[in-house]
Amino acid sequence: MKDATAQTIYLKDYQVPEFLIDKTHLVFDLNDEFCRVRSSLSIRRNPESQSSSSPLFLHGGAELELQKIEIDSAVISETDYQRTAEGLIIDQAPDNCVINIEVLIKPHLNTTMMGLYKSRTMYCTQCEAEGFRNITFYLDRPDVMSEFTTKIIADKQQFPILLSNGNPIDQGDIENGRHFATWHDPFKKPAYLFALVAGDLSVVEDSFTTCTNRNILLQIFVEEKDLNKCDHAMLSLKNSMRWDEQTYGREYDLDRFMIVAVDDFNMGAMENKGLNIFNTSAVLANPKTTTDAAFQRVEGIVAHEYFHNWSGNRVTCRDWFQLSLKEGFTVYRDSQFSADMNSPVVKRIEDVVYLRTHQFAEDAGPMSHPVQPDAYMEINNFYTLTVYEKGAEVVGMIHSLLGDEKFRQGSDLYFSRHDGQAVTIEEFVGAMEEVSGQDLKQFRRWYKQSGTPVIDVTSHYDPEAKTYNLTFEQSCPATPGQSQKKPFVIPIKFGLVGADGRDLPLNNQGDQSMVFSLYETSQTLVFENLQQPPVPSLLRGFSAPVKLNYNYSSDQLAHLMANDSDGFNRWDAGQKLSLQVLNKLIEDAKAERELVMDQQLIKVFKSLLSDHSLDPAMVNLMLQLPSEAQLHEQAEIIYVEAIHRARQFARQSIATALEQQLASTYQRLTETQDYAPEANQIGRRALRNCVLGYLMKVKTVGPELAWQQFNNASNMTDKAAALSALVNCETAQNYATQALKAFEQDYCDETLAMNLWLQVQATSQLPEGLERVQALMEHSAFNINNPNKARSLLGAFCSANPINFHNKEGSGYEFLQQQIIALNALNPQVAARLVTPLTRWKKLPEPNCQLMRDALQQIANHKGLVKDIQEIVTKSL
Ligand code: PHE
Ligand code: ZN
Repeated sequence: MKDATAQTIYLKDYQVPEFLIDKTHLVFDLNDEFCRVRSSLSIRRNPESQSSSSPLFLHGGAELELQKIEIDSAVISETDYQRTAEGLIIDQAPDNCVINIEVLIKPHLNTTMMGLYKSRTMYCTQCEAEGFRNITFYLDRPDVMSEFTTKIIADKQQFPILLSNGNPIDQGDIENGRHFATWHDPFKKPAYLFALVAGDLSVVEDSFTTCTNRNILLQIFVEEKDLNKCDHAMLSLKNSMRWDEQTYGREYDLDRFMIVAVDDFNMGAMENKGLNIFNTSAVLANPKTTTDAAFQRVEGIVAHEYFHNWSGNRVTCRDWFQLSLKEGFTVYRDSQFSADMNSPVVKRIEDVVYLRTHQFAEDAGPMSHPVQPDAYMEINNFYTLTVYEKGAEVVGMIHSLLGDEKFRQGSDLYFSRHDGQAVTIEEFVGAMEEVSGQDLKQFRRWYKQSGTPVIDVTSHYDPEAKTYNLTFEQSCPATPGQSQKKPFVIPIKFGLVGADGRDLPLNNQGDQSMVFSLYETSQTLVFENLQQPPVPSLLRGFSAPVKLNYNYSSDQLAHLMANDSDGFNRWDAGQKLSLQVLNKLIEDAKAERELVMDQQLIKVFKSLLSDHSLDPAMVNLMLQLPSEAQLHEQAEIIYVEAIHRARQFARQSIATALEQQLASTYQRLTETQDYAPEANQIGRRALRNCVLGYLMKVKTVGPELAWQQFNNASNMTDKAAALSALVNCETAQNYATQALKAFEQDYCDETLAMNLWLQVQATSQLPEGLERVQALMEHSAFNINNPNKARSLLGAFCSANPINFHNKEGSGYEFLQQQIIALNALNPQVAARLVTPLTRWKKLPEPNCQLMRDALQQIANHKGLVKDIQEIVTKSL
């Protein structure tokens, strides 16, 4: 685990595997102090490999206690193989043989949550990307695909449920109160999709009839106390299965589909064939304990993992540089699904806010990399916003360039041609190119060039000729390892909005919206017969992951907000207006000038609150000022305090000016129906809680409302919103203390709700934030070994509480540095992700800049730093 000199792996060095494993037989003998793993591998030399005499290399971590190796039933001696830090070299492996290996591992001591480990009382596995090599010696690379049979043996009372991939083929009792189960997965798969679970679990069952009338057993395994939190995931699963048949023509293949919920998990969930393993936070949901946001996250992640069965499992990745082949495509698919299940515009806006805030920041920082990276030290560091979110945007652009029909044809061709194969991004793009007849050569740069492209748009209206010109210029900032960029192909969906608010015809066919492909550095469009200069509505639906600049006046933005036929751009015009106002306030705050609120924004917000015909979900989104994190992303230099003060001032001014409208909106949206996590209700609750947030700025009114809401809330969405409002309000600290206590009493047995309780406090913007977090680390609800808890308290404080984290003494940085070192030895993946806020040091002014750098340097100096952290720290310094 501890690497002195981590080496870099390059895409250009890819070689096909020298050996293949046709069949894999595994036996897991689970005991309290160890697990005996026996494997039987049918190995043969790969006919496609150039080298015909190379020794057999199997990956395997240092923690594997090797007991025995047999080749074709003959035990081989220690002189016949070599153990290295990375695995096992067997010199004289025949071209065709069966190798039996026996190892001992200690899952109960495994804190990394990779390989086989224990979560509370159950055993589970996580093998992506390279966890299988911590279970046994193997060709642990995604282009080695094998048919797995797995036998699990364990104590029957402690572990009545024994699961692995595929179908159960045998089970029975054996001596000493033990039992076994054997599973067989008929589909060849790479080791990263292997899974095993053993535990005392309860199950919720349902079934699904596929489009060809096959009956699929659906099972969700949870701890008994969580049986009442599975309905939403089950419904989401059935919806996903139907949707993938209808939208992509993809039918489920095995006879059963299982989900297991585990409390200790590094990521959201994992798409193991037929046996998905989920973080409890990504599967459990109940109105009493779960917020709307968490309900929607469950729906999205259940869909995401299910969709991987085709985009990821049936067609998998050749190597980890192709990660976005499965992740970008699958995120795109799950976002389409969520859009269809809820509101497409709302989903699009949420995705874009996320992308702009986090992916743009990543792409502008020291870890910036292309959607298809060309080098990595630790692959776990490349499960990134760029690979996932930007990767999904790139697939979306292909969709919009090809149109619905061709995109579906391309997807069909990709799945049918490569079913059962491990392929590259090139195969995906190639299929799209082939069905459409479009040349995507230049488009492929989206996969190879990092950085967020910038488009500067200027316009010119000629009143004599009645012509209107739009000139688009693209550029892309330098990123690590890429100083020069070639132009991208950028689909820009746009329209021209007339003075009457209607879209003007753009051509002789009368099109009101068009997709223009910008492929040169600079291109100009000319429109004729325009009686007046229009207001351009650019990048409708956010048709490309770029930053687009056009010098709008505030009147033009107000015009777009009121009239744009594109819902996304109506919202975006509001964001641009808010940004203009905030940027001015930030300048003033920095220069310590008096802050004066812009009245146009107030006017616009007033009309939004007064127009009851508008969709509450949209009004909520429009009333949200860009977050501090987003303001940090778009700032050249991050003046944390000025940004915080400016934004708070704007919120205060809005609240004071619109108190009446806010209060009546709050009353109007009081829910009378029973709770349901559906789009309409979610939108109403979101707006009501947004309005409550503003009202907190109005003395006594807000605190009283929030206190009432906290006590009367029938669901966690309203309860948590009220709690957060109180905790963040200086004048409501009495209530806040009581509310925190009451919450703790009511939910002390609900792990996920208690994580929310930690998070609300970790993100409180009131002074002494660090002291609060340090005190909470002693609370029984906290445990640094649990990734969800580490994220809820430490992660939330360091990445979502800038005003406290970036204090001028640097104590926030020192604190983070200590936590990273503590986690270094426990859980490299969680530790590495915590480093992110420090990597942005170059954007902060002194003294913070130097203090952050010092903290990074301290981490770098630590002996025994895992390569996950080494890579990020080295690249950042
Ligand atoms: N492949 C998982 C997903 O995106 C993510 C994951 C990666 C989970 C690595 C665990 C470990 O669905
Ligand atoms: Zn995924």
